[in-house]
Amino acid sequence: MAREPVDGANSKVDILLVDDQPAKLLSYEAILEQLGENLIKAGSATEALDQLLRRNVAIILIDVCMPDLDGFQLATMIREHPRFQKTAIIFVSAIQVNDLDLLRGYQLGAVDYVPVPVIPELLRAKVKVFAELYRKTRQLERLNAELENRVAERTAELAQANAELEQRVEQRTREREEALAQVHEMRKLESLGQLTGGVAHDFNNLLMAVLGNLELAKKYLRDQPRVLRLIDGAIQGGERGATLTKRMLAFARRQELKPEAVDIAKLVDSMIEMLRRSVGPAVQIATDFETGLTPIRVDPNQLELALLNLTVNARDAMPAGGEVTITACREQVGAGDVAGLAPGEYVRIGVRDTGLGMDEETLRRATEPFFTTKGPGHGTGLGLSMVDGLVAQSGGVLRIESRPTIGTTVEFWLPVSAARDGCEPEPSGAPLRVGEPRSFRVLVVDDDAMVAAGTAAMIEDLGHSVIKEQSASRALEHLSTRPNIDLVITDYAMPGMTGSELAAEIHRVLPGLPVVIATGYSGAPEETGLPRLNKPYRQQDLAALFATLTPLPAALSISRAASAGESESIGVLGN
Ligand SMILES: Nc1ncnc2c1ncn2[C@@H]1O[C@H](COP(=O)(O)OP(=O)(O)OP(=O)(O)O)[C@@H](O)[C@H]1O
Ligand SMILES: [Mg+2]
Repeated sequence: MAREPVDGANSKVDILLVDDQPAKLLSYEAILEQLGENLIKAGSATEALDQLLRRNVAIILIDVCMPDLDGFQLATMIREHPRFQKTAIIFVSAIQVNDLDLLRGYQLGAVDYVPVPVIPELLRAKVKVFAELYRKTRQLERLNAELENRVAERTAELAQANAELEQRVEQRTREREEALAQVHEMRKLESLGQLTGGVAHDFNNLLMAVLGNLELAKKYLRDQPRVLRLIDGAIQGGERGATLTKRMLAFARRQELKPEAVDIAKLVDSMIEMLRRSVGPAVQIATDFETGLTPIRVDPNQLELALLNLTVNARDAMPAGGEVTITACREQVGAGDVAGLAPGEYVRIGVRDTGLGMDEETLRRATEPFFTTKGPGHGTGLGLSMVDGLVAQSGGVLRIESRPTIGTTVEFWLPVSAARDGCEPEPSGAPLRVGEPRSFRVLVVDDDAMVAAGTAAMIEDLGHSVIKEQSASRALEHLSTRPNIDLVITDYAMPGMTGSELAAEIHRVLPGLPVVIATGYSGAPEETGLPRLNKPYRQQDLAALFATLTPLPAALSISRAASAGESESIGVLGN
């Protein structure tokens, strides 16, 4: 690339001519005029110094013999000034100078001598050389400065790029570490969920057997009030165990949910008295709901439980009393607006308190199952994890904001319901069809012999007869040889064939034979549309199931009777 001429490369330089005789000054001027430089004349040493200080003089032409200050003295003074240490000084000497004088002159800073009479070409040539030298020197200086500037600029740019790079590397590392920590946390919670879910499932089965048998035992001990009291105590313990199991299943997101369209304002209104009783007189409960809220889709019983958990947490955080505010407002969520929430219409529900708040560690771990700061016997650490599990299972997210000594707000988003029919419960399961008479033959299928025995005992106690099978294949085998069964109650999670697979097979070979799925968690897919019994179920649940029997149309009655090889009438079990 062609370089621009450096500024000043062709500019004129200043040449100072010093002589006390104006005629000589004029003659120097005439000689040097054709060089095209700036010629400045000074008639005395004082005038010369004055000009020097005001300009950037390149060359000084000095007459050695001047009346007030001779040329040597002037040169000495000029050289003493730091600005003029390298300025070219040419002496013009009218008298014959000897070698000693010359030496003195050079020591005082002269760079050249021109004898008088001045030979014009000689003077011009000498001055021209020094003028060029001056110009080149300035040019070099400028180039140098420019180079230094550029180097400084590049260095600064590099330093900035380096700093940015370091910052980016740092940010990436931080993001990666955070992502890894999150993955770790999620994996931990997932395994904890699986573990909890598994334990809760097994506990459910145990509790079924315990509660079922205790209830039956009570019937045989009506005349022994002391034993009855003991049994009641045992039943109460079992029920508390069942509540705990439910919370564990909720955290594991495997609880059986019955979502329906729920009007949050109505729901809170209906439970506010109960909430007030739970928090006591020192804590005020206020509500703040947007008017005309769209119903949300959630299991209302579980939502009540969640609100109760949050309110009790708020109470615990305000030992000296305070205020809890329950809020709800509509929110249209766009993509990426709320982390973890799909775009759509939601209702944001909040429970705010003015309590002690949480420190960073507590806030980070608050929704972790079994995490509690309340000490043994005071908290199970399942309250918030139950709420979190319910919200996640219902298609929402939960967020907690808390500041020590200021208070806590727990808020969660729940999707609005597609059904806007005034919050009627949504239908669950198809009607059951069972045969009359009122004493039914029930096939109980469960791989857990203890559960099957407990269920059988409760059903028999209700006056019906029971056949137990421990697997789906054994049940099908039984039905193929003796189809005279009125109702099948089957466990969902069984090795080999699940309860819903068994139901599908039964409906294929014996259409019309009702099948009820007994399950303790939401492993059973909703879409089977089958009626369910939630474990641990009690005898009264079974009684309610049998009580909903209604007669079947005659046509079905005939087909069932034919396949059963018996004549009997058939009924329908409605919800
Ligand atoms: N509103 C709140 N203010 C301050 N801290 C809270 C609040 N809610 C929860 N926490 C903290 O989070 C922890 C976990 O709460 P969580 O409801 O899961 O369990 P818990 O209340 O300790 O026990 P549980 O609810 O099973 O009786 C609490 O122990 C408490 O430290
Ligand atoms: Mg709690």
